[in-house]
Amino acid sequence: MRILVTGGAGYIGSHTVVALLERGHDVVVADDFSNARPAVLDRVAELAGRRAALEVVDLTDAGRTDAVVAAAAPDAVVHFAGRKAVGESAERPLDYYRTNLDSTFSLLAAMERHGVRRLVYSSSATVYGDHAPVPYVETYEPLAAASPYGRTKVMTEQVLADVAAATPGLRVALLRYFNPVGAHPSGRMGEDPQGVPNNLMPYVAQVAVGRRERLAIFGDDYDTPDGTCLRDYVHVLDLAEGHVAALEHLDTMATPVRAFNLGAGRGTSVRELFDAFCAVVGRPLPHEVVARRPGDLPAYWADTTRAAEELGWRARRTIDDMVADTWRWQQANPEGYPA
Ligand code: WQD
Repeated sequence: MRILVTGGAGYIGSHTVVALLERGHDVVVADDFSNARPAVLDRVAELAGRRAALEVVDLTDAGRTDAVVAAAAPDAVVHFAGRKAVGESAERPLDYYRTNLDSTFSLLAAMERHGVRRLVYSSSATVYGDHAPVPYVETYEPLAAASPYGRTKVMTEQVLADVAAATPGLRVALLRYFNPVGAHPSGRMGEDPQGVPNNLMPYVAQVAVGRRERLAIFGDDYDTPDGTCLRDYVHVLDLAEGHVAALEHLDTMATPVRAFNLGAGRGTSVRELFDAFCAVVGRPLPHEVVARRPGDLPAYWADTTRAAEELGWRARRTIDDMVADTWRWQQANPEGYPA
């Protein structure tokens, strides 16, 4: 198949593009490089043995997006492109709503015009909000989110459901990621956040490589086994394989629009992840416990039944795989991808 991958130069997008190329699919990446470096696509080509085509496009430009979809004439679209920093979204809500929603509106209009009826959408466990029972199950209602970023995910899922209901033949998989971490085992691709990392794993990696002074653990007085928060960390290669599985099952899904949790199905604490990283590095890393970060939930993880039964997908890689692959990437690329 020919797959259009929006945000294909991003962290999860690039690892998914490698997986798609390796399986013989042709790929067109649509990216504006607002949060990724072009060098990523050279690494994709190096690892996959062939290049993805590239369209540089801001998807909020409906006309340009239509031209890209017309030229690519894809069999399916994987839609990663969007802004994803929770904290930043509270500071710049209009930017998040415009970017994340307008880009999806442009894409859906272009798909409609050009008869593209297969979509895999990058959603997030954040749509479950603050009150869902753990483990999170895809049938939970009502969806709600605690940040403008999360609300763009809830809204987009609702838009996709409505558009699919009005578009015979449109099939949409909503992939709800838990905590994506890790890197390609080659050490040639990985997470390269611009600026100070918001997320735990890249921050620890930058402490380990000497770019950051110490890890601040946001609270160790939660009602959890070691007092730090539990999250469902899932290796980015497992996530990439989950996207391939979703693409391959779009036509046989039980409903035209269907959500799937992509998680490991277990909770790992901040301290457990940090200690695993120290073990891989072979020395203790500087850290301090500070105040809780507002908005953090104590513990959540995925119920993984639906993805296993309907997509034949399970996360296979361990926490030790995640930290070892992250460390190999960070050591080999202390400053991330070349500019
Ligand atoms: C994990 C744990 C922190 C940094 C976020 C988004 C979610 C999704 C994944 C997009 C928490 C602790 C972190 C640090 C720390 N993104 N921590 N010190 O918050 O679970 O999820 O990323 O879809 O929408 O909310 O991930 O990595 O930020 O935090 O102690 O410097 O690590 O308190 O307990 P989170 P995270």
